[in-house]
Amino acid sequence: WVLTATARSPTNIAVIKYWGKRDETLILPVNDSISVTLDPDHLSATTTVAVSPSFDRDRMWLNGTEISLSGGRFQNCLREIRQRARDVENKEKGIHIRKEDWEKLHVHIASYNNFPTAAGLASSAAGFACLVFTLAKLMNVSEDAAALSSIARQGSGSACRSLYGGFVKWVKGEAANGSDSIAVQLVDESYWNDLVVIIAVVSSRQKETSSTSGMRDSVVTSALLQHRAEVIVPSRILQMEEAIKNRNFGSFARLTCADSNQVINTVERWSQFEGAPQVAYTFDAGPNAVLIAPNREVASLLLQRLLFFFPPPPDTKLEGYMVGDTSI
Ligand code: DP6
Repeated sequence: WVLTATARSPTNIAVIKYWGKRDETLILPVNDSISVTLDPDHLSATTTVAVSPSFDRDRMWLNGTEISLSGGRFQNCLREIRQRARDVENKEKGIHIRKEDWEKLHVHIASYNNFPTAAGLASSAAGFACLVFTLAKLMNVSEDAAALSSIARQGSGSACRSLYGGFVKWVKGEAANGSDSIAVQLVDESYWNDLVVIIAVVSSRQKETSSTSGMRDSVVTSALLQHRAEVIVPSRILQMEEAIKNRNFGSFARLTCADSNQVINTVERWSQFEGAPQVAYTFDAGPNAVLIAPNREVASLLLQRLLFFFPPPPDTKLEGYMVGDTSI
């Protein structure tokens, strides 16, 4: 027999960024972060996990190619979920798995991203959130989303925020074992669903520096990073929570741009047009720009202007995504 579970998880875009770890194994951050979860119809990972007594080892395929599961991050997620597995009864198929059986059973995992892997669009966020959620579903794990977020965090930090829709805060926590480093939902996806997130995919090449090594270098070499974690981010987090609660786009845009470490010409030029409505930009570790408009009208206008003044190179995809569920 074979038993399967399938789930889909969206990616998320940080507006106050997670950058820097205080523990690399447990993946504990040096600061709180806040992100917006995208509509799963657009940027998401879909994962199927199968279990069968005929499988002789755990295996995984990413977009159809087998990948190694030997990395600590995969192993940590698998172990944490297996430890919480419960009895599973499937009357239709006449299957009864007792909770102690899970230790001996192996899984096959197939995961698909509908967007470029490791191009700096948080594919690991959607991927690990989906992996943990699907394993938990298959193994009848009863833990809530907060507990699952702390397991997904051990796969990739940003993944913990993809367990929820809407605006999500990853609380850095204080405990050395990471038990309080979890994601909490600030507001759900319907709260500020006028917002439009536009992703300009200018390159689907894998980013040159992984977030993990970029963060490590910053922790070692940047005097600013500690100041950022201790002084700048805590006050920005409070202001951002206030801006989200009040749906104050002016303040949201200012904070989002301030927290992104690169300047985008396009948005600066856009802002020079007289009467141009305000928009926000933000970058993650790759080259792709994320623009946020306060509503559909501004998003359409922004896209028209972008395409007119900055005709995209041939391999550029410029698409609009709603935070809610309609695409423009
Ligand atoms: C710039 O979550 O990919 O997107 O925890 O090492 O897997 P690891 O890093 P990852 O880093 C994301 C960094 C970021 C900012 C953010 O999403 O908060």
